[in-house]
Amino acid sequence: MKNNRANWIIASLVLSVMSMASAVAANDVDLAKLDVKSLVAKMTPLKGTTPAQWRVIWTEDASREATISWSTAELGKKHVVYYGTKSGGKEGKPALSQECQSNGIYTITQPKITPAYYHHARIKGLKPNTRYYFVLESDGERSREFYFRTAPAEGTDFTLIHGGDSRSGHANRCRMNLRIAEQANSDSKVIAFAHGGDYIVTGSKWEQWRLWLSQHELTTQEDGRVLPIIPTKGNHDGGKIYFEVFDLEEKTKRWHTTMLGKDVALVTLDTNSPAGGPQEEWLEAELKRLRPAVRWLLVQYHRPMYPAVKGPARHAPIFCPLFDKYNVDIALESDGHCMKRTVPIRNGKKDPTGIIYVGEGGLGVGQRKTHADRWYLKDGGKSGSAHHVMRLDFNPDELRVRFILMDGSAWDDHTIKARDL
Ligand SMILES: [Fe+2]
Repeated sequence: MKNNRANWIIASLVLSVMSMASAVAANDVDLAKLDVKSLVAKMTPLKGTTPAQWRVIWTEDASREATISWSTAELGKKHVVYYGTKSGGKEGKPALSQECQSNGIYTITQPKITPAYYHHARIKGLKPNTRYYFVLESDGERSREFYFRTAPAEGTDFTLIHGGDSRSGHANRCRMNLRIAEQANSDSKVIAFAHGGDYIVTGSKWEQWRLWLSQHELTTQEDGRVLPIIPTKGNHDGGKIYFEVFDLEEKTKRWHTTMLGKDVALVTLDTNSPAGGPQEEWLEAELKRLRPAVRWLLVQYHRPMYPAVKGPARHAPIFCPLFDKYNVDIALESDGHCMKRTVPIRNGKKDPTGIIYVGEGGLGVGQRKTHADRWYLKDGGKSGSAHHVMRLDFNPDELRVRFILMDGSAWDDHTIKARDL
């Protein structure tokens, strides 16, 4: 706790005096030893209408749609993203443009907090499997040029990064962001980053989100490549800001299915909302629609059904039978602050046809000791404690799941065979 607070103070201080400096990459430094000052040196100051805190958000059709978002310190009048399949070059901008459909102030509940403003450009009609360049512009102030890649229309030849619990341990959060960037840098098949929730400690505090958003810039590759983020809501992400950051309707967009082409689906659930009622009805309809249509069917949510540290989420009696019924391939969990891969589980028992549950959050938060003696964590399952992301490599026959640690090594390397559909 003391360390977390120290990290927070250091990061806040450095953030206020930061300047543009040479880039930091995960492959040429020992991340564990990297000092906070160099970690934050790349972040864009929130000042005037300078576009900062950029992110690309996927929640539905990742082959054809994306929301491109950023923040400014001043409200500004006109916010536009220029985008296209051809780079605008050093001084230019890509040919297409989209004015932001949604602009507003991040909700502030504490006194004396400097306001900031969100801007969301919802772009549709993109071509699958295509590199899109983009430049952000707020009242004439332009960002550098970035790019991202849309998901393919079909096929499984790509990699997804998943990680959760970046809520505290700010220096380590920065280091893990660099590790995420390096995963994408070293392998162009990495297509997106799914976050399992608990971005910050107190979801109603803008100053915490401000820091998270600035630090999220570190996941951008040095050549400008941005990994789209697929968000999940954690129990620490209460309040309105989560929805403002990710351009989600608070009442209607608490769960969503992101199609990574027609063959891979990631169903995102909300363990902060009741499992029964509308969420259960939606989940059953989605799984029924998706199975057997997709080759790989994944679920992500924050609180684990088969935890390595805490007790199971109260959602387990409703979610797990549906996962079993529709033969979900893997469940991505967070919240426990540890690493675990369960044995395959069906109907509450070890079963070779069952579902593997992996997690549970290591994007900077202090790691906890696991209950390694739980039946689903031994005799084929495993658990441990270290900062990590999970890397999921898809192909038509297999799903390879690796836990990548801060130093780039793999703690676990497990392959799941495709089901007979
Ligand atoms: Fe949590």
